[in-house]
Amino acid sequence: MRVLVTGGTGYIGSHTAVELIKRGNEVIIADNLSNSQENVIDKIKEITGVKPKFYLTELTNREETEKLFKENKFDAVIHFAGLKAVGESCLKPLMYYNNNLTSSIILAETMAKYGCKKLIFSSSATVYGEPERVPIKEDFPLSTTNPYGTTKLMIERIYTDLVKADPEWNVTLLRYFNPIGAHDSGLIGEKPNGIPNNLMPYIVKVAAGELYQLSVFGNDYPTHDGTGVRDYIHVTDLALGHVAALEKVAESGVHVYNLGTGTGYSVLDIVKAFEKVNGVKVPYVITNRRPGDIPECVADPTKAYEELGWKTVYGLEEMCRSSWHFLEKMREN
Ligand code: NAD
Ligand code: UFG
Repeated sequence: MRVLVTGGTGYIGSHTAVELIKRGNEVIIADNLSNSQENVIDKIKEITGVKPKFYLTELTNREETEKLFKENKFDAVIHFAGLKAVGESCLKPLMYYNNNLTSSIILAETMAKYGCKKLIFSSSATVYGEPERVPIKEDFPLSTTNPYGTTKLMIERIYTDLVKADPEWNVTLLRYFNPIGAHDSGLIGEKPNGIPNNLMPYIVKVAAGELYQLSVFGNDYPTHDGTGVRDYIHVTDLALGHVAALEKVAESGVHVYNLGTGTGYSVLDIVKAFEKVNGVKVPYVITNRRPGDIPECVADPTKAYEELGWKTVYGLEEMCRSSWHFLEKMREN
């Protein structure tokens, strides 16, 4: 298949591009490089032997988006592009609504115009808000606690309405849990700008001595050790979830899947595993809870297994090892 990957130089998009190419798909990447670098394209070539075509595209711009479709006939689009920092979205809500909604609408309008109606969208477990219980199934109630999450929920609804209006569309909404880790080669991974917000990139910087210590946000949650529990998923497993959705979802309609492992680990579980696997120290201090955090967020991934034949293969140790390996490789270069 010829697949347009928006946000394809980013963290999850680049790993997905690799897995798509490895299975013989033709990948075309469009990204505005607001949170990634163009040299990721060369890294993808180093891993796969194939250099994907790259467009520097601002997806909120209709002409730039249309150029992609004028020059290529796509079988499907995987839409990763978007802004994703929860804290920043609270400070700059209009920027988030404009970027994430406008790009998603223009993309779908352009797809319709050029007769491409197969779309896979990056959603998030954030659309479950504060779940009443775990593990979370796809039919749990939806709500959000921050503008970033609201953009994800709004886009899910926009695409669902689109399918209702035009049943030829085939839309898959993939709700990711907590992606971590990096490609086995160490050539691509997560490179957050500045001080990271998320746990694993923060741990990596502390272990590397670039940050002094980790703040563990609260140890009084109703979890096995009091610290927050999440469903961490290796980014390559997540990428393979997209490949499965692309290959298996044949019927038109809206299809929703959780992409997670089904296992929850606490903050301290992650710190201990990271220290053990990589032989490094991660000094930490317990601080107050982070506003907006929930105690536990764990997927029930049964639907993705039953319908897509997809399940995760990487364990916690491999996730910790590959996150560190990526940093070591970056330091070599
Ligand atoms: P990322 O920031 O690494 O990748 C997103 C890419 O989109 C970046 O390369 C950025 O430059 C590009 N982009 C942003 N706005 C654009 C625009 N208007 N036009 C063109 N390109 C644009 O993020 P990621 O972690 O790879 O996330 C990919 C998707 O998955 C995002 O939609 C994110 O919201 C979603 N998601 C991520 C997580 C996570 O924890 N990483 C969890 C759930 C959902
Ligand atoms: N945490 C710390 N210290 C830190 C960073 C995080 O203790 O410095 C804790 C948090 O309190 C939480 C856990 O580590 O218990 C995970 O936090 P992250 O910030 O890594 O991830 P979140 O679960 O808060 O959110 C992430 C993405 C969201 C996405 C969500 C579900 O940031 O965009 O996963 O996919 F919606």
